[in-house]
Amino acid sequence: MRQKAGPDLTPGDAKPGGLKPDDPKPGGLKPDEVKLGVARPGARLLALAKRVPGGSTVADIGTDHGILPAYLERAGLARRVIGSDSSAGSLASAARTRIRSGCSFELRLGYGLEPLEPGEASVLVLAGLGGQTIAEILSAGRPVVAMAHLAVVQPMKDLPQFRRWAECSRLTTVTEDIVIEGRRIYNVLTLAELCRFAPAAWDALETGIEHEVTRLLLDNEPVALLRYLQTRYRLRSGISSSRAAARPEEARADQIVALQIEQQIQSIEGRH
Ligand SMILES: C[S@@+](CC[C@H](N)C(=O)[O-])C[C@H]1O[C@@H](n2cnc3c(N)ncnc32)[C@H](O)[C@@H]1O
Repeated sequence: MRQKAGPDLTPGDAKPGGLKPDDPKPGGLKPDEVKLGVARPGARLLALAKRVPGGSTVADIGTDHGILPAYLERAGLARRVIGSDSSAGSLASAARTRIRSGCSFELRLGYGLEPLEPGEASVLVLAGLGGQTIAEILSAGRPVVAMAHLAVVQPMKDLPQFRRWAECSRLTTVTEDIVIEGRRIYNVLTLAELCRFAPAAWDALETGIEHEVTRLLLDNEPVALLRYLQTRYRLRSGISSSRAAARPEEARADQIVALQIEQQIQSIEGRH
C-alpha cells in the first residue's frame, strides 16, 4: 500500500549556505552549470534526464540517492518531481540529497508504483533495476502506467528479454540510447503509447537477433554501437559455451545469434 514519507523526509530545511528551494530555477543551463551541492550526475543519469520532456511531472521509482530528482529540479527540467523507493534507507539517502541540494522534490516510501495515484506522474523513470523487476513493477502498476505519457527505463540486465516483453505488452519503444560511463555501458529506453499497455508474462528464455539488435540501436553513434554489440557478442558466446554440454540445442541457437551479432559488427566496422 501507499505509504507517505516519514517526518525525517520533510523538505525545506536546506543547510545554511546551501541552495534554497525558491532560488531561481536554472533552466537552459548546461549540465556542468547546474549547482547541485551533491555528487554530479554521471553520463547515465544525464541520459535519463535528457529523455524527460520539459515541464513534466516525473516519478523516479527506486530513486536511491535521489540525484536524478535533484538534478531535474535544479536544472528546471521538470515541473514537479517525486522520488520513491521501497527501502527506507535509500529514501533517507535521497532525503539527505534533497537537503544538501536545497531541493523540494517529494519523497515517498513504497513498492514500485504503489506510492503513486493514476494520473499523478506523466513520466515514469525506472533505472538501475533488473529488466524483470522493471517489467514486474510496470505490470503491477498498470493503472498508473496507462495514465502516464512516457516511461524512461534503464534495465541493468536481461535487456533483450525486456525489449521482447515491452513489445509483447504493446509498449512502443521510441528511442534507445547507448550510454558509456567509464568502463560500463548502459541502455536507456523511452517507452510510449502507455495507454495501450497490456502486461505480458515475463519470458526468461534468450531471444533471437531481432531483440538483440533493433533498428533504434542503429541510430546511436558507431563507437557506442560497436561497444554495445561487442558486449552482447561476448555475452551470447559465453552463454552458448556454458550450455554446450547440458543443453546443446539452446547452445547452438545462442551461437547462431552470437554469429549474427558478429556480422553486424563487421558490417558497421566496414562502413566506418
Ligand atoms: C541500484 S539502485 C538504482 C538507483 C537509481 N535509480 C539509479 O539508477 O542510480 C536501486 C534502487 O531501487 C530500489 N528498489 C528496488 N526494488 C524496488 C521496488 N520494487 N520498488 C521501489 N524501489 C525499489 C532499491 O531500494 C534501490 O534504492
